[in-house]
Formats: sequence, structure tokens, C-alpha cells
Amino acid sequence: SLCRSFKASSESAPVDPGVQVSLKRAVAKKVVELIKPGMIVGLGTGSTASLAIEEMGKLIQKGKLKDVVGVGVSYQSRVLARQFGVKTADLNDVNTIDLAFDGADEVDSSMNLIKGGGAAHTMAKVVDTMAKQCVVIVDQSKIVSELGLTFPVPVEVLPQAISAVLRKLVALGGVPEIRSALRKDGPVITDLGNMVVDVRFSEAIKDPSALEKEINMIPGVVENGLFIGVANSVLVATQDGDDIQV
Ligand code: 5RP
Repeated sequence: SLCRSFKASSESAPVDPGVQVSLKRAVAKKVVELIKPGMIVGLGTGSTASLAIEEMGKLIQKGKLKDVVGVGVSYQSRVLARQFGVKTADLNDVNTIDLAFDGADEVDSSMNLIKGGGAAHTMAKVVDTMAKQCVVIVDQSKIVSELGLTFPVPVEVLPQAISAVLRKLVALGGVPEIRSALRKDGPVITDLGNMVVDVRFSEAIKDPSALEKEINMIPGVVENGLFIGVANSVLVATQDGDDIQV
């Protein structure tokens, strides 16, 4: 199996931002080694997946990955794919995804994830669950012993239902906050035209699978960023002294 076993507690360590970029690049280079000619590849979003799209483009330019097609989970990944010379198709034009790679905001030792830092988790969940193989690529800072302590759960919400959904999220014991854009006055709007609510819980999430379903049962919720049983393997880049290992 491709699954790298890791001990959550020993590898979860903050990394220097300069080093973190090298870790992301290392894991990006590693994941593109799994792509074979003719594959339909799910292209994740975020800074780590973006590096993998770039590395994939480099291999294609060298003539190494004939007839590979990418299916982007976001506007960002589709634009990057075109920029780096990766041919793209719409999800509705393909019947299968052979391999999907994607980043994550938190990964626990059962390979459950929190995603959605880039507000693209709804389509990421569709593409990643459809893939025959979903490979998550992270640096060591994303490894946690329990989900929900450092990163809130992103929830994509229909704008027309925002107040009703906020009340239900509070009733579930969460502290929801509407995600706002950094340089604009107003909420973040997803590729699908919805809002994102980041929900913090006072404790670690004890039953992520139950919470994933409970949140999605709230009318007006489109999808949440808990990815339970979606990843087939996780590649983790770690720093060991000056050495970077994946
Ligand atoms: C986007 C995501 C990203 O994969 C996640 O935020 C990780 O991003 P990065 O690789 O930049 O840390 O879920 O919705």
C-alpha cells in the first residue's frame, strides 16, 4: 500500500515558513511520480496541491505523461493547470478519476481530514471520493492527534440560509464565524456562489464521522470540510535536521 504509517504525536511539529515551502515542494514532487500516462487526475487546491500541478506540468513538458488529463476541484486549480500546460476536462465530461491529489489542513492517524482552508472543499469532496485513489499531500505541521483543536471545520452554506444555519451550528455546540475576505469588505464567496462558515469546537472532535453527517443534515448546508474515510494514502514531508524526507 502507498499508505505511509505515521505516529501523529511524534511528527506533528511546527515548521519554519521557509522550510515549509521546501517540504511542500518535496511532497508535491513525490505525488506526481504516481501519475501514469493516460490517467485522469483530480487536481486539488491550496499551496501544496498547486506545487504538484506545477510539477505535473514540468513532467508533461518533458513528454513524460502522455494523454494525461486533469480535473480541477477549483477555479484556482484549473487556471494553474492551464498555466503549467496540463490539459483539463470538466468533471461531468469524465466517468472516473484514476488518481486525485489534494492538500489538507489537518490529518489524524486514521487519515481523516479537515479541509476547506481554500474554500474549495465541496468540489474537492466530490472529486476525491470519486477517485480510485486519493492521495493527500502535507507537511508535518498538518499532522494532529485529534481533529478540530487547531483548525476549525469549514462549512459551505447557501447565503439565503446563513442565519438559520448559524443557529443550528451553535445548537451543535460550535462557535461559527462567517469567513471574510482579507482585502474586501464582505464574506468569502466560493466558486459555487456560497458562503463559508468556520466552526470551532471547545474540545477535539471525538466522533468526526458523526459530526460530518450531523452538519450536512442542517438544511442550507452544502458540504463541510470533514473528510472521513476519503484518503487512501497520506504522503507526509518531514524535516530531519537538514534532511527532508517524504
Ligand atoms: C482547500 C484545501 C487545501 O487543501 C488546504 O487548505 C491545504 O492547503 P495548503 O496546502 O495551502 O496548506 O482544503 O480547500
